Amino acid sequence: MSRLLLVSNRLPVTVKVEKDTVSVVRSAGGLATGLRRPHERSGGLWIGWPGDVSRLSESQRARVDAQLAELRCVPLTLSASEVSRYYEGYSNRVLWPLCHYMLERIPRQDRDWEVYRKVNERFADLVAKHYEPGDTIWVHDYQLMLVPGMLRQRLPGARIGYFHHIPFPSSEIFSTLPRRRELLKGLLGADLIGFHTVSYVRHFSGALLRHLGLDTDIDRIIWEGRDVRVGAFPMGIDAQAFESIASEPGMQEEVANLRRSSEGQRILLGIDRLDYTKGIPRRLLAVQRVLERTPAWRGRLRFIQVTVPSRTQVEAYANYRELVNELVGRINGLYGTVHNVPVHYLYRSFNERQLVGLYRGADVMLVTPVRDGMNLVAKEFCAARPDDDGVLVLSEFAGAAAELGGALIVNPYDVDAMADAIEKALGMAEEERRTRMHTLRKQVKSRDVHWWTSSFLDRLQSLPAVDVRAE
Ligand code: UDP
Ligand code: G6P
Repeated sequence: MSRLLLVSNRLPVTVKVEKDTVSVVRSAGGLATGLRRPHERSGGLWIGWPGDVSRLSESQRARVDAQLAELRCVPLTLSASEVSRYYEGYSNRVLWPLCHYMLERIPRQDRDWEVYRKVNERFADLVAKHYEPGDTIWVHDYQLMLVPGMLRQRLPGARIGYFHHIPFPSSEIFSTLPRRRELLKGLLGADLIGFHTVSYVRHFSGALLRHLGLDTDIDRIIWEGRDVRVGAFPMGIDAQAFESIASEPGMQEEVANLRRSSEGQRILLGIDRLDYTKGIPRRLLAVQRVLERTPAWRGRLRFIQVTVPSRTQVEAYANYRELVNELVGRINGLYGTVHNVPVHYLYRSFNERQLVGLYRGADVMLVTPVRDGMNLVAKEFCAARPDDDGVLVLSEFAGAAAELGGALIVNPYDVDAMADAIEKALGMAEEERRTRMHTLRKQVKSRDVHWWTSSFLDRLQSLPAVDVRAE
C-alpha cells in the first residue's frame, strides 16, 4: 500500500496558547475527528495548519514541532493576514455560506480571492516538497479547492484525490460565485473527487456542464486529456471506538449520575459547533413550542445544548452567538423555576468520552441543521447506544439523512413540525425506539470511517496507472 499524504486546512490537533501555557489539543469538527484514526493507521503524513503559533518563543515552538512530528503532522503556518483573508475571509465568509445556500451572508466585495489562491499555492508547494513517487495524495475540503490543480502542474503523474466535506450547492447557487470557473478547474486536477451524497455529485456535474461545457458520463469526465472520476462516498465514524467507550464499566456510573441529576426529567441533547448552519435558534424555538403548548412537559424536560466555540473572529458567528444566548435566556426566563431551567446551555468543547456520556444518557438527540454536508454527531449518537435505545431527530438537510432512515426526519424550517417530532420522540413506545435504533446502528456500524476511507482510496488506487514519464 502506498504512503498516504493527507492535506487539509486544519490539522487533527490545534496549538492553543493561553497566557504562558502552550498546549496541543484535539481539533473539533468532522473532518479532523473523522480522519484521525485512518491517519493513525496509515503511517503517512498529514499536512495542515496547526493554529496560531506566532506568539510562541523559540523553545516553545521547538517543543510544539517535536509533538507534531511525533504525530506525523507537517505544519503549514499562516500569517495573521492569511488567517484573516484566506481562512476567515474567502474560506469562511464566501465559500462556507455559499455551499450552505446562504448567499445573503457573503460580503458584497470579493477582496480575498488572491490571498486564498496564494495560500493554496503554499499548500501545493509544501505537499510537493514532501511527496515521494508512489505516494497517494488526498486533499480535503473547501479551503483547498485549488490545490488539486496546482499539484497536477507540479506532479503530473501523482495520484490525487479530493474530498468535499460540505454540501456542493445546486448550480443555480454555485453560479453566483465570480470565481466559479477557477474553482471547478482547481478540483479537476484530482483523479477522483468525492462528495457525501449523490445529490452533491449531481450538483457538481451540473456546474461542470454549465461553466466548462463538460459532460459527465456517469462518474467520468475527460479534462485536459485526463480521466477524472467523481463519486458519492458518505463519510462514517469509528463506530467501534464509540461503542467501546459507551460500554466501559465506568460509563454506566457517569450516565447514572447524569440521570440522577435530571431526576424526573427527560433529556434532550444537541451538540454542535456554534455555526449558523446548525439550526440552533429554530431548535430552541421548537423546544419552547413544546413547553408552550403542552404544560405537562414544564419542569420535566432538560435540553442540554453543547456549542463548541468556532470561527469566533468572523462577525456572523459572533452575532449568531448573541442570538442563541438571547433565546436561551428567554426560554429559561419563561419556563425556569427556582429548582431548574429547561435549557442547560454549555459553550465549550468536550472530549470524546464526555460526549459519549451525554449521548448515552440522552432520551432524544436533536440534530437539526438548516444545511450540513454530513453531520457526524448524528452517527456518533447511534454508535454510542449499545443499549439500542434513544431517538434521533434529524434534519432532512443534513447529508446523514440520506442514510439514516431510522431517524425521525424533520424540516428544520418548520418549527411546529419539529415540536411535533420532539413530542413524538418523547412519547415513542420502547419497541419502536429499539427497532429504529437497531436499524440506525446497523447502518452506522457497517458504513464506518474505515469503510469510507477504503472505499475512496481503493477507488482512487484502482484507477488506471498514471503516466509518470512527465515527472
Ligand atoms: N466534537 C468534539 N467536541 C465537542 C463537540 C463536538 O470533538 O465538544 C466533535 C464531534 O464528536 C464530531 C465533530 O466534532 O466528531 C463535529 O462533526 P460534525 O460532522 O457533526 O459537524 P462539523 O463540526 O464538522 O460541521
Ligand atoms: C467543518 C469543515 C472542516 C472544518 C471544521 C471545523 O467540518 O468541513 O473543514 O475543519 O468544520 O472548522 P474550523 O474552521 O475550525 O476548521
